[in-house]
Amino acid sequence: MGTEAADDVAAYRLSDGTALVATVDFITPVVDDAYSFGAIAAANALSDLYAKGARPLFALNIVGFPARSLPLGLLGEILRGGSDKASEAGVSILGGHSIDDHEPKYGLCAIGLAEPDRLITKAAAQPGDRLLLTKPLGLGIITTGIDQGLVDGDTAAQAIEVMSTLNRAASDAMLEVGVDACTDVTGFGLLGHLREMALASGVGARLSLSDIPVLPAAWELVRAKVAPEGTHNNHRFLRDEVEWPEGVRWEDQIVLCDAQTSGGLLMAVPPEREARLLDRLAAAGVQAAVIGEITADRPGRLAVERS
Ligand code: CO
Ligand code: CO
Ligand code: CO
Repeated sequence: MGTEAADDVAAYRLSDGTALVATVDFITPVVDDAYSFGAIAAANALSDLYAKGARPLFALNIVGFPARSLPLGLLGEILRGGSDKASEAGVSILGGHSIDDHEPKYGLCAIGLAEPDRLITKAAAQPGDRLLLTKPLGLGIITTGIDQGLVDGDTAAQAIEVMSTLNRAASDAMLEVGVDACTDVTGFGLLGHLREMALASGVGARLSLSDIPVLPAAWELVRAKVAPEGTHNNHRFLRDEVEWPEGVRWEDQIVLCDAQTSGGLLMAVPPEREARLLDRLAAAGVQAAVIGEITADRPGRLAVERS
C-alpha cells in the first residue's frame, strides 16, 4: 500500500507472511490538560494501524514545544500521557524528535506488523455491506467548545474518555470476524472518511441519520454555531456529494461532517457477519452502532436518510 491508494497507512511486504506497516500522526492540543492531550494524541496516532488490522510494535515521539514561553513540566506531562497510552497498547516508544515551535504539537510515528493478505483497506467494501461505527460523533465540536470555555467539566471528561480510548479492542474484534473494509473517522468527519471508502471501493453508501451515535452535548454547541473550521470545510467540500433528506437540519449536516480527533472505526462488514461482529464488539466493551450500508450507487455517492 503506497501513494496510489490514499489509505490510512503505508505497508511494505517483508515476506509472504509479513508486512511492515507505518503511520505518522501529530496534532495540536485538543484539551487543556497536558497529560490527556498526550494520551489522546497517542491513541489517535495508533488508530491508523488498528483501522488496518495491524499490530503496533513500537513508536517514535514527534514533539513541537515552545520551550521559552511554556514551562517544561507541561511537556513532561504530554509525554507521560503518550507513554502511558502506548504502554496500555503494548507499544514501546523507542525515541523521537522535538523542535522548538510556537505552539505545542505531539504525536507518534508508529510501526506495526500485519499479514499482507489480512490487511484491511478502504478499497474492498461491497454493496450490501453493513456500516458500523465504534465511537460517537461530536468530538471536534466539543473540543472547540472546550477551547472557548463553553463546556462543563463532565462533558469535557466524557470527550477525553472517548478520544483516549484505543481502537484496539474494536480492531481485534474486526480481525477475528473479518470485514471487507475499514477506516478511522478523524479530520474529514464521518462523511468525508466514508466518501473516501466509497470512492476507493467503487460503491455508494446510505446512512440512517437516527442511528448515528452523537455525544449529546454536541447538539447545543452546534446550535450555538460552535464547530471547528475543519468541520465547516468538510461540509462545504461534501455539499454536492451527499443526498440529504428533505428538510434536513443544518446541525445534523455539521455533526456528520465534524472533524474528529481519535474517532472510532468505520467498518463495512458483510451482512452475514454483522451479528457476530456486534457480539464480539459488545463482549469487548465497544459500543458499536449499525449506521447504514454500502450501496451499488455511483462511486462516492452518499445518501443520508432519516431512519
Ligand atoms: Co486514518
Ligand atoms: Co490518522
Ligand atoms: Co533527530
